[in-house]
Amino acid sequence: MSKVIETWTQWLKNSRFSYMTEEQKNQTINWLMLVRDKILENAKLQEDDVLIDIGTGTGLLAFEAYNKLKESGKVIFSDSAQDCLNECKKIAQDCGINNNVEFINTDVTNLGLENDSVDVIVMRSVLVHVLDKLTSIRELHRILKPGGRISFFEPIIKSNTKYYELINPLNFPNYEKLKEVEYKIMSNPSDPLTNFDSKTLKENLIQAGFKNISIDVNIEKSTYPVSASMIEPWFNTSSGGGAQSLKQRFMNYLEEQIVNQYIKDLETELDGKTITLESLSAYVYAEK
Ligand SMILES: C[S@@+](CC[C@H](N)C(=O)[O-])C[C@H]1O[C@@H](n2cnc3c(N)ncnc32)[C@H](O)[C@@H]1O
Repeated sequence: MSKVIETWTQWLKNSRFSYMTEEQKNQTINWLMLVRDKILENAKLQEDDVLIDIGTGTGLLAFEAYNKLKESGKVIFSDSAQDCLNECKKIAQDCGINNNVEFINTDVTNLGLENDSVDVIVMRSVLVHVLDKLTSIRELHRILKPGGRISFFEPIIKSNTKYYELINPLNFPNYEKLKEVEYKIMSNPSDPLTNFDSKTLKENLIQAGFKNISIDVNIEKSTYPVSASMIEPWFNTSSGGGAQSLKQRFMNYLEEQIVNQYIKDLETELDGKTITLESLSAYVYAEK
């Protein structure tokens, strides 16, 4: 039987919350609203703007941009996943949104739009899923009108707290190996999740011809008590879009049995402890 790959819509609506308590889920949703508002504020929307939300997913940015533009201009919902566009169309229909919107199935590496055709590009957590960031950023530059603005947010996963930083090396006989593997996973140049940081994003924007670039790097710290039951889902939940789970990425370097043992040992090590995790992200703004 072939494995059914979950759709982006399934991930956005369900899977990403699957290991969270109701409280954590609500916190995440509130955080998403804050990120959405900051991206749109940075985009400095003006009446009659033609705006494209690339990798719109379930329309987090695009629907709010539509509210802000008050039916002036146009909002283009674009995604390479048709299931996301279907979901956005359904929401639009339910909300009676018919005018000033367009839905296009297209890939950020080859958008197929005319040169100089949009005033504003917004995105959240899209380039993190795309291997070739420079080609994508050149494409964004190509479709923007001269003077147009781009505002987006990306998690900088490679700079996040690593598991090996949370544990006592003395409790893990193969600590050095585990550390080496996690380090490799988190700086893998062939993995879109980890092949970039704020510095390379800036270099790519400059190479593509953007100006007035500003990158605001955020470090968010979350401190919370861990229970053993949280560890396995951390390792088994995919980052979406068919990306390998952390367990699968460990298994690219270590036998499954060793990875399973590591997960078990982490459960013992972290159960009942309060940990602080740092997550880095970047708000990027630039003009053509
Ligand atoms: C993490 S989701 C973010 C969705 C939405 N922007 C949000 O903030 O809720 C990533 C989205 O990027 C889309 N995506 C992934 N690779 C893409 C590509 N190469 N071109 C266009 N969209 C892509 C996925 O289909 C998915 O909807």
